[in-house]
Amino acid sequence: LIAAFQPQRLAGRRVLVTAGPTFEAIDPIRGVTNHSSGKMGFAVARAAREAGADVVLVAGPVHLPTPRGVRRIDVQSARQMLAACEAEADDADIFVATAAVADWRPAAPSDHKIKKDGSGRAPVLAFTENPDILLALAQGARARSGALFCVGFAAESHDLAAHAQAKRARKGIPLLVGNIGPLTFGQDDNEMMLVDAQGVQPLPRAPKLVLARQLIAEIARRMGAGG
Ligand code: CTP
Ligand code: CA
Repeated sequence: LIAAFQPQRLAGRRVLVTAGPTFEAIDPIRGVTNHSSGKMGFAVARAAREAGADVVLVAGPVHLPTPRGVRRIDVQSARQMLAACEAEADDADIFVATAAVADWRPAAPSDHKIKKDGSGRAPVLAFTENPDILLALAQGARARSGALFCVGFAAESHDLAAHAQAKRARKGIPLLVGNIGPLTFGQDDNEMMLVDAQGVQPLPRAPKLVLARQLIAEIARRMGAGG
């Protein structure tokens, strides 16, 4: 019902959102992940749908219901998330990367359960860097031609404005949303700032859905779609 009162700022637009953590296998029954709840990304997907967009939500392992009217693709690893995003990006007008993608994955996952060998020695895991999904899409032809508007998220523990601005420039994206983590993980509220080439604009602490609607309105405004 609320959705009926949202202005249809993104009618006819296609929005791709990543959300949640990724899960990187160590062996068939173990892996490496993080505490992302996915709530912010699911709120962004819901807000985009409320604004009239066609929304695809690429989700890592989370325990959240799919927002009404949103097409959801479930993935586990960063590489699966990248593949899903690359397959969907050709059709997208807006990409919002909220996922807490694992920066590294076990370099050589075992195809059978790693067993204790009785020696008392623990296995040593080697890691390798995961692909940067946001960077890949932001450097793709569609984004570089201006057809795909890319938005990143960054949780920083300190010096948020400076780190967020540097990260935005490094990824080559017009807009990045910063928040002080990891205190916000799993909570319903968040305190964020919008970082663009002009500077930093704080968004006061609010429920994630309220912040998501503000972000969607801001994206629509920047795309010249009114609002
Ligand atoms: N991101 C991504 N793929 C990755 C890492 C990050 O798509 N492999 C995206 C996140 O979804 C987020 C943005 O990039 O929108 C910033 O993520 P963050 O972890 O803050 O930045 P990193 O570039 O990974 O740098 P670091 O973690 O070292 O601060
Ligand atoms: Ca990271």
